[in-house]
Amino acid sequence: MKKFFAMLMSLVLCMGMAAFAACSTEPENVPGDDAQMGGQTPEQGGSQEEGAGNEQTGDDEDTDDETPDETPSGESNVLIVYFSATGNTETIAGYIADATGGTIFELVPVDPYTSEDLNYGNRESRVYREYLDESLRNVELVSATPENWEAYDTVFIGYPIWWGIAAWPVNNFVTENDFTGKTVIPFCTSASSGLGQSGELLAEAAGTGNWLEGMRFRSSASENDVRTWIENLNIV
Ligand SMILES: Cc1cc2nc3c(=O)[nH]c(=O)nc-3n(C[C@H](O)[C@H](O)[C@H](O)COP(=O)(O)O)c2cc1C
Repeated sequence: MKKFFAMLMSLVLCMGMAAFAACSTEPENVPGDDAQMGGQTPEQGGSQEEGAGNEQTGDDEDTDDETPDETPSGESNVLIVYFSATGNTETIAGYIADATGGTIFELVPVDPYTSEDLNYGNRESRVYREYLDESLRNVELVSATPENWEAYDTVFIGYPIWWGIAAWPVNNFVTENDFTGKTVIPFCTSASSGLGQSGELLAEAAGTGNWLEGMRFRSSASENDVRTWIENLNIV
């Protein structure tokens, strides 16, 4: 009888250990696993706000053996388009180009803005008049369409914030091009304002394209700020 009990006890013990072993091989819940957020979280809070643009779809997988006919640089089909009046947005555009290997295209007004024009503290200045009268915001560009436009499938669009919205010299680029099939990523610089609705308004004006959430950078953002953002976009 004693023997029988001893055997029964060791059997129960064995079953208990087996159950524990099975449990301990279960995957654990890792806090901070954001896989279901598409990998994009608004980064670097505080001064950088998320835009009201569309969400990232996460459908950026390669199309197998398909390569665009005319990939401009031969390597990257990323285009970085920007307007910059005083150089801040231009610097960010350069960082994006370095991080992505993309091609840069600057939007240059036929009638460039002088520093007098940009004096937004003066109600008589060009920008202030354009601000007050929307009909004056149709800024003609030296060129509104980059070469090989069709070959790009990711387009960054950069601008300074002017009175809370995208500086209007980008408007004609947005309205004069077809963004169908392209992923469009707004970015901006400002003294203190966030991205606000600027990306969303441009997306509306464009009417085509898959516009992602954009990013606002402070005027003197570092290359590292930009790289961190690009890495989180998962596009390169
Ligand atoms: C006409 C004008 C309007 C501006 N409006 C704003 C604004 O509403 N909010 C803000 O934070 N900064 C504003 N700024 C500051 C610029 O957004 C900021 O200096 C930006 O980095 C300039 O970019 P850029 O050097 O590429 O032109 C304004 C600047 C100008 C010239």
